[in-house]
Amino acid sequence: MPLQNIPPHLERILDLARWAPSGDNTQPWRFEILGPEHVLVHGFDTRAHCVYDLDGHPSQLAVGALLETISLAASTEGRTAAISRRPDTPDTHLLFDVRFNPAPDVRPDPLVAYIEKRVVQRRAMSTRPLTAEQKTALEAAVGNSYKVVWFEGLGQRWRMAKLCFDNARIRLTIPEAYAVHRSVIEWGTRFSEDKIPSRAVGVDLATEQLMRWLMGSWRRVEFFNKWLSGDLPPRIQLDLVPGLACAAHFALSAKRPLRQIDDYLAAGRAMQRLWLTATLQGLHIQPEMTPLIFSRYARMGVRFSKLNAAVAQANVNSRRLDAILAGKDPECVAFLGRMGAGREPNARSLRLPLRKLLQR
Ligand SMILES: Cc1cc2nc3c(=O)[nH]c(=O)nc-3n(C[C@H](O)[C@H](O)[C@H](O)COP(=O)(O)O)c2cc1C
Repeated sequence: MPLQNIPPHLERILDLARWAPSGDNTQPWRFEILGPEHVLVHGFDTRAHCVYDLDGHPSQLAVGALLETISLAASTEGRTAAISRRPDTPDTHLLFDVRFNPAPDVRPDPLVAYIEKRVVQRRAMSTRPLTAEQKTALEAAVGNSYKVVWFEGLGQRWRMAKLCFDNARIRLTIPEAYAVHRSVIEWGTRFSEDKIPSRAVGVDLATEQLMRWLMGSWRRVEFFNKWLSGDLPPRIQLDLVPGLACAAHFALSAKRPLRQIDDYLAAGRAMQRLWLTATLQGLHIQPEMTPLIFSRYARMGVRFSKLNAAVAQANVNSRRLDAILAGKDPECVAFLGRMGAGREPNARSLRLPLRKLLQR
C-alpha cells in the first residue's frame, strides 16, 4: 500500500513505533495495513545467520518492544491497541493482528515523548549512583511479573565489567561473530538507517580505523588477535572501562523461567518500558546481551563456534554469570545491561522509513 493511502492516524502510530530498539538495528518487523483500524505486524528473526540470535529470542524481545511501542503510540491517537498473535505460524515468521479501538478517555502515555529520544549509549557514563526515586520508577515500569536486579558498587561493577571483557574475547575472536559484525556496522558514519554506524560502536577513532581495516578479512583478524592482541583495544574500550564507568549493571528478570515465544515477547514489552523510563529519568542504557547468550549456549551444550577455546570460555563465563546472579535462575533473565547518567551519544542508529517497512 502506498504511504498516501494509509489512514493518517495509522501512519503516525507506525511512524513512532518503528523507533523501537532491535539487536544490531535489524528492525525485524514489517507492517501490513488490513483496514483503517487494523494492522498485521510481521515479526521475523535472524537466527539463520546471526550467532547472537539464539532461538530467535533477542529478535522476539525486539518485536515485544515494538508491540509495546505501538500500544504507547496508540494512546496519542486516543486509541487502545488490542494485539493477538496468530497461532500456527513458523517461529521465524510471527504474525500479530493489531486492532485499534477509539477510546476517548485514553490520555497520551508520558513515555511516548521518549520513544524517539531513547538511544543506546555504549560509552562511559557517570558513576553517580541511581537515586532511590529513580530505582523505584524503573522497578515499577516493568510491572509485577518482572524484577530489576541491581549490581552496584565498585566490586559488583568490576565483576560485571570483567565478565563482559572476557566474554568479548569470544565475540571478537570467533568467525561466526565476525560474519555478523561485518554485515551490521556501517563504517565512517554517525547515523545509519538499518545498521550500527561505526561512530556509535563506542571505540575511539584510531581503534575504529584499525577495526575497519582488520575486518576487511578474517585472516587479518585471526593474525592480529593471535600475535598482536588485536582484540584488546576494543575489549578495553567497549567492555572494561564503560563496565566500570556506569551507575549500575542490571538484570531484567522474570518471576518464572522464560520458555515460550510469548514469554520473550512479553519480556520485550517490559524491556522497552524500562528503557523508556530510564530515558525519562535522564539515564542511558547499554545492553550487555552477549554474556547471557553465550551462557545459554553453554547451558544447552550447543557448539556455537568451531573454535574450541571459545566454547570452553563460554562454559567458564556461564558459571561466573551464575555466581553473579547468586542463585537466581539464569533462565529467568531476559535482558542484561548497564545504566547511568551522562551526555547524549553524538552518533546513533536511525530507522528505515515507514514506506520501506510496509508489506503488501
Ligand atoms: C534485544 C536487544 C539486544 C541488544 N543487544 C545489544 C548488545 O548486546 N550490545 C549492544 O551494543 N547493543 C545491543 N542492543 C542495542 C541495539 O544495537 C540498538 O538498540 C539498535 O542498534 C538501535 O539503536 P538505538 O537503540 O540507539 O536506537 C540490543 C538491543 C535489543 C533490543
